[in-house]
Amino acid sequence: MFEIKTGTTTSKSEQYAELVEQARGMLAGEPSLIANAANFSALVFHTLPDFNWAGFYLYDGNELVVGPFQGKPACIRIALGRGVCGKAAQTRETQLVHDVNAFDGHIACDAASQSEIVVPLVKADGTLLGVWDVDSPSVGRFDDEDRAGMEALCAVFMNAVNAQS
Ligand code: SME
Repeated sequence: MFEIKTGTTTSKSEQYAELVEQARGMLAGEPSLIANAANFSALVFHTLPDFNWAGFYLYDGNELVVGPFQGKPACIRIALGRGVCGKAAQTRETQLVHDVNAFDGHIACDAASQSEIVVPLVKADGTLLGVWDVDSPSVGRFDDEDRAGMEALCAVFMNAVNAQS
């Protein structure tokens, strides 16, 4: 069984560095996208503090469809360009939203969400796999260290995806 390690380091960057190593070990050699996405969301959600949702929206060639996640049931389909997820998918740039109430077009799946980060997931061949979305019940939960950390985690996830395709 995979053990989630918590509380062994203090700074945010150290936490992410440890999480990156855990994710790399957890995903190594497993070809199933769904299995890896499910375990990845559980690992992140249960290791870092102050999240109410963490999971994937996968691109089906037309729109984003909710994939494996941790948290309350979420909106199922999001068009490219809509909400924070759709903007990340369309621009292929990480979206860091300090206060979702101030983001024009934010899609409120869970009224508890106050801040959010969404990282686009692009395969080695340039096609869009989807996005990685994490929500917090606290305003301003995510900063540039979270952006760097989440992007590093997503790079580990995409390495596992690219290794199978
Ligand atoms: N808030 C997102 C929708 C997905 S949920 O947060 C899980 C958005 O605006 O795209």
